[in-house]
Amino acid sequence: MRATLTRTSCRPEDTQRVAAAVARLLVPGSVVALFGELGSGKTCFVEGACRALGYDRRVRSPSFTLLNIYAGRQRIHHFDLYRWDLATSAAELDEWEELMDAGGISFIEWADRLGAHLPERAVGVTLRHRDTSVRAIEVAAPEAWLRELESILPDELREPCNRDRPGH
Ligand SMILES: Nc1ncnc2c1ncn2[C@@H]1O[C@H](COP(=O)(O)OP(=O)(O)O)[C@@H](O)[C@H]1O
Ligand SMILES: [Mg+2]
Repeated sequence: MRATLTRTSCRPEDTQRVAAAVARLLVPGSVVALFGELGSGKTCFVEGACRALGYDRRVRSPSFTLLNIYAGRQRIHHFDLYRWDLATSAAELDEWEELMDAGGISFIEWADRLGAHLPERAVGVTLRHRDTSVRAIEVAAPEAWLRELESILPDELREPCNRDRPGH
């Protein structure tokens, strides 16, 4: 059974802490599908996950190239499908599906563009603007997987962003 878990990010570093925790639970062939409007923090999340996967260089959205590949401890595929249209790009789709299945870890910004081609195993991450620097992060995955995630996430990310929250 799939379920969701939601946490509040008060700053980019919080988003990257959630991403690092998610990254710890990924295995070769894992796919993370990112949803949320421009500026919601999808690339920020991918960068945080890349750090945790041993890739330390700056991460940017491959808005024009559609796919970047990074050498972390595992191969990392970073897709940004904002400018990509399923109706006209069947050849790319076959290639990408093979790549995702061949191992490595895949992050897909604007994953909704894949429609029914989004792998069923994908962990979903939806980022929503709550305020200038506040985001709600919702993770969708199998229940048992989310329980593991919950056990390694810092508790303070459950709290709203105010002066009482540590680090605020
Ligand atoms: N809590 C937060 N989480 C993520 N990004 C944040 C947060 N607060 C502010 N930001 C800023 O929002 C922007 C998010 O940009 P980016 O990650 O490129 O978004 P996207 O890839 O969704 O278009 C960055 O400039 C980042 O510094
Ligand atoms: Mg981006």
